[in-house]
Amino acid sequence: MKLVKHIANLGYGSRKEVLRMLREGRITNAAGEVLCADDPLDHDDVRVDGQPLDPPPGLLLMLHKPTGYTCSTRDAGRLVYDLLPPRFRLRNPVLSTVGRLDRDTSGLLLLTDDGQLLHRIISPKAKLPKVYVATLAQDLRGDETALFASGTLRLHGETTPLLPAELEVLDARRARLTLYEGRYHQVRRMFAATGNHVLTLHRERVGGLDLAGLPPGAWRRLDEDARARLFAA
Ligand code: URA
Repeated sequence: MKLVKHIANLGYGSRKEVLRMLREGRITNAAGEVLCADDPLDHDDVRVDGQPLDPPPGLLLMLHKPTGYTCSTRDAGRLVYDLLPPRFRLRNPVLSTVGRLDRDTSGLLLLTDDGQLLHRIISPKAKLPKVYVATLAQDLRGDETALFASGTLRLHGETTPLLPAELEVLDARRARLTLYEGRYHQVRRMFAATGNHVLTLHRERVGGLDLAGLPPGAWRRLDEDARARLFAA
């Protein structure tokens, strides 16, 4: 790919704007030599205003989503993209959330610009565990663990029963739930099916990855090791 298109695709500006940046001498190599539009592309050697380029396509990020943020590129209100560098929203291929967390759910959210990887993670075949902690409005009844594990629970308006899920009771009104699929508002609807109501919901883990001390609102790029851990659950 050509230098100008590559830099534009990373969200630094339109091709016209990148051409202007080149003319202004803002785009150099690591040695500080000004680059031209037809110079060969060597991603790691390019600097914009002296700074290395953002990561190339194939990006996978983990975000500790706080409550109050929406997994959307254009809803009203606060968006998960507001927590990332502004250029990340302008990338091509686009950086998408891997599935969604509700606005009022906190915890581990993955984002990637790699469509194949995204499908591999969310594919029902992958059966990657997703681990949530829910606090509830009412005491657990006592039969939820067996019901959720049964593989027979059908959510309101759905015909296919849920896959078996694991419930660990933490106290009377708190439980850890491991799901192997991802249906719309699944955790909230599962507890609603037992006459309860989820007050707070936090995702601790996806596959073999947890937040590992990442504070709310912070993100980090996942390297090859982390990718391997994701699928090693
Ligand atoms: N289940 C829910 O109900 N909400 C989420 O955000 C994730 C899973």
